[in-house]
Amino acid sequence: MTIRFDDQVAIVTGAGGGLGRCHALELARRGAKVVVNDLGGARDGSGGSSEAARAVVAEIEAGGGDAIANGANVADYHQVEAMVAEAVDQWGRVDVLVNNAGILRDKSFAKVSLEDFQLVVDVHLMGSVNCTRAVWEIMREQKYGRIVMTTSSTGLYGNFGQSNYGAAKLGVVGFMNTLHLEGQKYDIRVNCLAPVAATRMTEGLMPEEALALLQPEYVTPAVVFLVSPDAPSRQIISAGAGGYARVYLEETPGIWLAPDERDADHLAANWEKITDKSGAEEYQDGSGQSMKFLTRAAKELGIKTG
Ligand code: NAI
Repeated sequence: MTIRFDDQVAIVTGAGGGLGRCHALELARRGAKVVVNDLGGARDGSGGSSEAARAVVAEIEAGGGDAIANGANVADYHQVEAMVAEAVDQWGRVDVLVNNAGILRDKSFAKVSLEDFQLVVDVHLMGSVNCTRAVWEIMREQKYGRIVMTTSSTGLYGNFGQSNYGAAKLGVVGFMNTLHLEGQKYDIRVNCLAPVAATRMTEGLMPEEALALLQPEYVTPAVVFLVSPDAPSRQIISAGAGGYARVYLEETPGIWLAPDERDADHLAANWEKITDKSGAEEYQDGSGQSMKFLTRAAKELGIKTG
Protein backbone atom coordinates (compact mmCIF):
# COMPACT_ATOMS: atom_id res chain seq x y z
CA MET A 1 0.00 0.00 0.00
CA THR A 2 1.96 3.05 -1.18
CA ILE A 3 -0.67 5.75 -0.88
CA ARG A 4 -0.86 6.50 2.84
CA PHE A 5 -2.45 9.14 5.04
CA ASP A 6 -0.56 8.53 8.30
CA ASP A 7 -0.68 11.59 10.57
CA GLN A 8 -3.31 13.11 8.32
CA VAL A 9 -6.84 14.12 9.23
CA ALA A 10 -9.69 13.72 6.77
CA ILE A 11 -13.28 14.94 6.87
CA VAL A 12 -15.76 13.03 4.74
CA THR A 13 -19.26 14.52 4.61
CA GLY A 14 -22.30 12.32 4.16
CA ALA A 15 -20.18 9.34 5.21
CA GLY A 16 -22.88 7.43 7.08
CA GLY A 17 -23.67 5.32 4.02
CA GLY A 18 -23.22 4.94 0.27
CA LEU A 19 -20.11 6.39 -1.32
CA GLY A 20 -19.07 8.50 1.66
CA ARG A 21 -18.91 5.47 3.92
CA CYS A 22 -16.60 3.69 1.44
CA HIS A 23 -14.37 6.78 1.13
CA ALA A 24 -14.14 7.10 4.93
CA LEU A 25 -13.34 3.40 5.47
CA GLU A 26 -10.62 3.38 2.81
CA LEU A 27 -8.99 6.61 4.00
CA ALA A 28 -8.93 5.17 7.52
CA ARG A 29 -7.51 1.86 6.24
CA ARG A 30 -4.69 3.89 4.72
CA GLY A 31 -3.90 5.59 8.00
CA ALA A 32 -6.03 8.75 8.06
CA LYS A 33 -7.89 9.88 11.15
CA VAL A 34 -11.39 10.45 9.87
CA VAL A 35 -14.31 12.67 10.77
CA VAL A 36 -17.33 10.68 9.65
CA ASN A 37 -19.96 13.35 9.07
CA ASP A 38 -23.56 12.55 8.35
CA LEU A 39 -26.80 14.30 9.09
CA GLY A 40 -28.48 10.92 8.77
CA GLY A 41 -31.64 12.09 7.04
CA ALA A 42 -33.71 10.41 4.33
CA ARG A 43 -32.81 10.54 0.63
CA ASP A 44 -34.76 13.80 0.26
CA GLY A 45 -32.90 15.35 3.20
CA SER A 46 -35.71 15.08 5.75
CA GLY A 47 -35.08 13.89 9.30
CA GLY A 48 -31.70 13.21 10.88
CA SER A 49 -29.84 10.82 13.20
CA SER A 50 -26.15 10.22 14.00
CA GLU A 51 -26.61 6.47 14.12
CA ALA A 52 -25.25 5.80 10.61
CA ALA A 53 -22.14 7.91 11.20
CA ARG A 54 -21.54 6.18 14.53
CA ALA A 55 -21.80 2.76 12.88
CA VAL A 56 -19.10 3.74 10.36
CA VAL A 57 -16.89 5.00 13.18
CA ALA A 58 -17.36 1.63 14.92
CA GLU A 59 -16.29 -0.15 11.70
CA ILE A 60 -13.18 2.03 11.44
CA GLU A 61 -12.31 1.45 15.09
CA ALA A 62 -12.84 -2.28 14.71
CA GLY A 63 -10.21 -2.18 11.95
CA GLY A 64 -7.77 -0.42 14.28
CA GLY A 65 -8.38 3.09 12.88
CA ASP A 66 -9.24 6.43 14.47
CA ALA A 67 -12.48 8.22 13.73
CA ILE A 68 -15.11 10.51 15.20
CA ALA A 69 -18.77 10.74 14.25
CA ASN A 70 -20.28 14.09 13.51
CA GLY A 71 -23.89 14.98 12.77
CA ALA A 72 -23.46 18.47 11.28
CA ASN A 73 -25.78 19.59 8.54
CA VAL A 74 -23.37 20.76 5.83
CA ALA A 75 -25.87 23.40 4.75
CA ASP A 76 -25.46 25.13 8.14
CA TYR A 77 -22.15 26.99 8.39
CA HIS A 78 -22.15 27.19 12.19
CA GLN A 79 -22.55 23.43 12.52
CA VAL A 80 -19.78 22.91 9.97
CA GLU A 81 -17.49 25.30 11.81
CA ALA A 82 -18.10 23.37 15.03
CA MET A 83 -17.30 20.10 13.21
CA VAL A 84 -13.98 21.44 11.98
CA ALA A 85 -13.19 22.85 15.44
CA GLU A 86 -13.84 19.39 16.90
CA ALA A 87 -11.45 17.79 14.40
CA VAL A 88 -8.76 20.35 15.17
CA ASP A 89 -9.27 19.97 18.95
CA GLN A 90 -8.96 16.24 18.63
CA TRP A 91 -6.15 15.92 16.09
CA GLY A 92 -4.69 19.37 15.47
CA ARG A 93 -5.14 19.70 11.70
CA VAL A 94 -7.27 18.95 8.64
CA ASP A 95 -5.50 17.66 5.53
CA VAL A 96 -8.31 16.22 3.46
CA LEU A 97 -11.89 17.27 2.82
CA VAL A 98 -14.23 15.10 0.78
CA ASN A 99 -17.44 17.01 0.03
CA ASN A 100 -19.79 14.12 -0.58
CA ALA A 101 -23.04 14.80 1.31
CA GLY A 102 -26.08 15.10 -0.89
CA ILE A 103 -29.81 14.77 -1.31
CA LEU A 104 -32.30 14.56 -4.16
CA ARG A 105 -35.60 16.36 -4.73
CA ASP A 106 -36.31 15.19 -8.28
CA LYS A 107 -39.12 16.74 -10.30
CA SER A 108 -39.28 18.22 -13.78
CA PHE A 109 -38.54 21.93 -13.78
CA ALA A 110 -42.20 22.70 -14.50
CA LYS A 111 -43.15 20.99 -11.24
CA VAL A 112 -40.26 21.51 -8.85
CA SER A 113 -40.92 24.08 -6.12
CA LEU A 114 -38.42 26.85 -5.62
CA GLU A 115 -38.01 25.58 -2.04
CA ASP A 116 -36.90 22.17 -3.30
CA PHE A 117 -34.61 23.82 -5.82
CA GLN A 118 -33.04 25.95 -3.10
CA LEU A 119 -32.66 23.06 -0.67
CA VAL A 120 -30.74 20.96 -3.19
CA VAL A 121 -28.47 23.90 -4.03
CA ASP A 122 -28.00 24.55 -0.30
CA VAL A 123 -26.88 21.01 0.46
CA HIS A 124 -24.69 20.29 -2.58
CA LEU A 125 -23.26 23.65 -3.52
CA MET A 126 -23.43 25.66 -0.29
CA GLY A 127 -22.63 22.52 1.72
CA SER A 128 -19.38 22.20 -0.23
CA VAL A 129 -18.74 25.93 0.13
CA ASN A 130 -19.37 25.84 3.89
CA CYS A 131 -17.05 22.89 4.53
CA THR A 132 -14.36 24.30 2.28
CA ARG A 133 -14.57 27.72 3.92
CA ALA A 134 -14.24 26.14 7.37
CA VAL A 135 -10.99 24.31 6.45
CA TRP A 136 -9.53 26.80 3.95
CA GLU A 137 -7.60 28.96 6.41
CA ILE A 138 -6.28 25.89 8.20
CA MET A 139 -5.03 24.43 4.93
CA ARG A 140 -3.50 27.75 3.86
CA GLU A 141 -1.67 28.06 7.17
CA GLN A 142 -0.33 24.53 7.12
CA LYS A 143 0.45 24.90 3.39
CA TYR A 144 -1.23 21.63 2.58
CA GLY A 145 -4.72 20.59 1.67
CA ARG A 146 -6.59 18.19 -0.58
CA ILE A 147 -10.25 18.79 -1.40
CA VAL A 148 -12.64 16.77 -3.51
CA MET A 149 -16.05 18.00 -4.61
CA THR A 150 -18.64 15.50 -5.75
CA THR A 151 -20.14 16.50 -9.06
CA SER A 152 -22.37 14.33 -11.22
CA SER A 153 -23.17 13.34 -14.78
CA THR A 154 -26.37 15.32 -14.21
CA GLY A 155 -24.41 18.52 -13.70
CA LEU A 156 -22.07 17.78 -16.57
CA TYR A 157 -24.62 16.48 -19.07
CA GLY A 158 -28.16 16.72 -17.63
CA ASN A 159 -30.79 14.24 -16.50
CA PHE A 160 -34.55 14.58 -16.77
CA GLY A 161 -36.12 15.75 -13.52
CA GLN A 162 -32.88 16.97 -11.94
CA SER A 163 -32.54 20.63 -12.88
CA ASN A 164 -31.94 21.62 -9.23
CA TYR A 165 -29.38 18.89 -8.68
CA GLY A 166 -27.66 19.56 -12.02
CA ALA A 167 -27.33 23.28 -11.29
CA ALA A 168 -25.81 22.55 -7.89
CA LYS A 169 -23.51 19.85 -9.22
CA LEU A 170 -22.03 21.96 -11.98
CA GLY A 171 -21.73 24.76 -9.44
CA VAL A 172 -19.10 22.77 -7.55
CA VAL A 173 -17.05 22.46 -10.76
CA GLY A 174 -16.97 26.24 -11.09
CA PHE A 175 -16.10 26.47 -7.42
CA MET A 176 -13.19 24.06 -7.92
CA ASN A 177 -11.78 25.95 -10.91
CA THR A 178 -11.14 29.10 -8.91
CA LEU A 179 -10.17 27.36 -5.66
CA HIS A 180 -7.52 25.51 -7.65
CA LEU A 181 -5.97 28.83 -8.69
CA GLU A 182 -6.23 30.42 -5.26
CA GLY A 183 -4.96 27.34 -3.45
CA GLN A 184 -1.94 26.63 -5.68
CA LYS A 185 0.47 28.78 -3.66
CA TYR A 186 -0.42 26.84 -0.51
CA ASP A 187 -0.29 23.36 -2.01
CA ILE A 188 -4.05 23.05 -1.76
CA ARG A 189 -5.24 20.81 -4.58
CA VAL A 190 -8.88 20.68 -5.54
CA ASN A 191 -10.57 18.11 -7.75
CA CYS A 192 -14.02 16.83 -8.66
CA LEU A 193 -15.38 13.32 -8.71
CA ALA A 194 -18.29 12.29 -10.95
CA PRO A 195 -19.31 8.91 -9.51
CA VAL A 196 -21.68 6.22 -10.72
CA ALA A 197 -22.66 3.81 -7.96
CA ALA A 198 -25.48 1.74 -6.60
CA THR A 199 -26.55 3.51 -3.42
CA ARG A 200 -29.87 4.53 -2.00
CA MET A 201 -29.58 7.57 -4.27
CA THR A 202 -29.76 5.40 -7.39
CA GLU A 203 -32.30 2.90 -5.98
CA GLY A 204 -35.04 2.26 -8.50
CA LEU A 205 -33.20 4.10 -11.27
CA MET A 206 -31.41 1.11 -12.79
CA PRO A 207 -32.06 -2.62 -13.18
CA GLU A 208 -30.71 -4.95 -10.46
CA GLU A 209 -28.04 -6.48 -12.77
CA ALA A 210 -26.60 -3.04 -13.49
CA LEU A 211 -26.66 -2.07 -9.82
CA ALA A 212 -24.71 -5.21 -8.95
CA LEU A 213 -21.82 -3.99 -11.13
CA LEU A 214 -21.85 -0.56 -9.54
CA GLN A 215 -20.54 -1.15 -6.03
CA PRO A 216 -19.62 2.17 -4.39
CA GLU A 217 -16.29 0.64 -3.32
CA TYR A 218 -15.20 0.74 -6.97
CA VAL A 219 -15.46 4.54 -7.02
CA THR A 220 -13.39 5.12 -3.89
CA PRO A 221 -9.91 4.58 -5.45
CA ALA A 222 -10.50 7.73 -7.52
CA VAL A 223 -11.23 9.78 -4.40
CA VAL A 224 -8.28 8.33 -2.52
CA PHE A 225 -5.94 9.23 -5.37
CA LEU A 226 -7.45 12.72 -5.74
CA VAL A 227 -6.77 13.52 -2.07
CA SER A 228 -3.37 11.82 -1.88
CA PRO A 229 -0.09 13.72 -1.46
CA ASP A 230 0.66 13.27 -5.19
CA ALA A 231 -2.82 14.24 -6.32
CA PRO A 232 -3.31 16.29 -9.46
CA SER A 233 -5.43 19.44 -9.21
CA ARG A 234 -8.45 20.81 -11.05
CA GLN A 235 -9.38 17.49 -12.60
CA ILE A 236 -12.85 16.04 -13.02
CA ILE A 237 -12.58 12.27 -12.71
CA SER A 238 -15.52 10.02 -13.40
CA ALA A 239 -15.66 6.53 -11.91
CA GLY A 240 -18.03 3.59 -11.82
CA ALA A 241 -18.19 -0.20 -12.22
CA GLY A 242 -14.38 -0.37 -12.32
CA GLY A 243 -14.07 2.30 -15.03
CA TYR A 244 -12.14 5.54 -14.45
CA ALA A 245 -12.00 8.47 -16.87
CA ARG A 246 -11.30 12.18 -17.11
CA VAL A 247 -13.85 14.81 -18.08
CA TYR A 248 -12.61 17.81 -20.08
CA LEU A 249 -14.24 21.22 -20.44
CA GLU A 250 -13.01 22.42 -23.78
CA GLU A 251 -13.69 25.25 -26.17
CA THR A 252 -13.47 25.20 -29.96
CA PRO A 253 -11.15 27.61 -31.79
CA GLY A 254 -14.32 29.16 -33.28
CA ILE A 255 -14.37 31.85 -35.94
CA TRP A 256 -13.64 35.53 -36.24
CA LEU A 257 -16.08 37.86 -37.93
CA ALA A 258 -14.96 41.13 -39.54
CA PRO A 259 -16.60 44.31 -38.16
CA ASP A 260 -19.15 44.47 -40.98
CA GLU A 261 -20.11 40.79 -40.50
CA ARG A 262 -20.87 40.81 -36.79
CA ASP A 263 -24.51 39.89 -36.90
CA ALA A 264 -26.60 36.83 -36.14
CA ASP A 265 -26.95 35.92 -39.82
CA HIS A 266 -23.20 35.58 -40.29
CA LEU A 267 -22.98 33.68 -37.05
CA ALA A 268 -25.71 31.26 -38.17
CA ALA A 269 -23.99 30.80 -41.52
CA ASN A 270 -20.80 29.78 -39.66
CA TRP A 271 -22.45 27.48 -37.12
CA GLU A 272 -20.61 24.40 -38.34
CA LYS A 273 -17.22 26.09 -38.03
CA ILE A 274 -18.04 27.56 -34.61
CA THR A 275 -18.95 24.14 -33.28
CA ASP A 276 -16.15 22.22 -35.04
CA LYS A 277 -14.16 20.48 -32.32
CA SER A 278 -10.84 20.22 -34.14
CA GLY A 279 -8.22 22.19 -32.27
CA ALA A 280 -10.44 22.50 -29.17
CA GLU A 281 -8.55 23.57 -26.07
CA GLU A 282 -8.84 23.28 -22.32
CA TYR A 283 -7.91 26.60 -20.74
CA GLN A 284 -5.98 26.87 -17.52
CA ASP A 285 -8.07 29.83 -16.38
CA GLY A 286 -10.64 32.26 -17.72
CA SER A 287 -8.03 34.44 -19.40
CA GLY A 288 -7.37 31.64 -21.89
CA GLN A 289 -10.66 32.45 -23.57
CA SER A 290 -10.13 36.23 -23.57
CA MET A 291 -6.62 35.79 -24.96
CA LYS A 292 -7.85 33.55 -27.76
CA PHE A 293 -10.33 36.18 -28.94
CA LEU A 294 -7.97 39.10 -28.45
CA THR A 295 -5.06 37.43 -30.22
CA ARG A 296 -7.27 36.46 -33.14
CA ALA A 297 -8.81 39.92 -33.45
CA ALA A 298 -5.42 41.62 -33.23
CA LYS A 299 -4.00 39.30 -35.89
CA GLU A 300 -6.94 39.77 -38.25
CA LEU A 301 -6.88 43.54 -37.81
CA GLY A 302 -3.09 43.75 -38.08
CA ILE A 303 -2.70 45.17 -34.56
CA LYS A 304 0.53 44.40 -32.70
CA THR A 305 0.03 43.23 -29.11
CA GLY A 306 2.57 43.31 -26.24
P1 NAI B 1 -26.39 8.48 -0.24
O1 NAI B 1 -27.77 9.05 -0.12
O2 NAI B 1 -26.18 7.07 0.11
O3 NAI B 1 -25.34 9.34 0.57
C1 NAI B 1 -25.47 10.70 0.83
C2 NAI B 1 -25.22 10.91 2.31
O4 NAI B 1 -25.23 12.31 2.58
C3 NAI B 1 -26.33 10.28 3.16
O5 NAI B 1 -25.74 9.39 4.11
C4 NAI B 1 -27.00 11.46 3.81
O6 NAI B 1 -27.48 11.21 5.13
C5 NAI B 1 -25.89 12.51 3.80
N1 NAI B 1 -26.43 13.87 3.85
C6 NAI B 1 -27.46 14.36 3.12
N2 NAI B 1 -27.65 15.65 3.42
C7 NAI B 1 -26.73 15.99 4.35
C8 NAI B 1 -26.41 17.20 5.01
N3 NAI B 1 -27.12 18.30 4.80
N4 NAI B 1 -25.36 17.20 5.87
C9 NAI B 1 -24.64 16.08 6.08
N5 NAI B 1 -24.90 14.89 5.49
C10 NAI B 1 -25.93 14.85 4.62
O7 NAI B 1 -25.96 8.73 -1.77
P2 NAI B 1 -24.59 8.48 -2.55
O8 NAI B 1 -24.96 7.92 -3.84
O9 NAI B 1 -23.59 7.79 -1.69
O10 NAI B 1 -24.13 9.99 -2.83
C11 NAI B 1 -22.89 10.54 -2.43
C12 NAI B 1 -22.58 11.73 -3.32
O11 NAI B 1 -22.35 11.27 -4.67
C13 NAI B 1 -23.70 12.75 -3.41
O12 NAI B 1 -23.15 14.04 -3.44
C14 NAI B 1 -24.36 12.42 -4.73
O13 NAI B 1 -25.04 13.52 -5.26
C15 NAI B 1 -23.16 12.02 -5.55
N6 NAI B 1 -23.45 11.24 -6.73
C16 NAI B 1 -23.86 9.92 -6.61
C17 NAI B 1 -24.09 9.20 -7.76
C18 NAI B 1 -24.42 7.76 -7.69
O14 NAI B 1 -24.47 7.13 -8.78
N7 NAI B 1 -24.67 7.19 -6.53
C19 NAI B 1 -23.99 9.80 -9.10
C20 NAI B 1 -23.52 11.14 -9.11
C21 NAI B 1 -23.27 11.82 -7.94
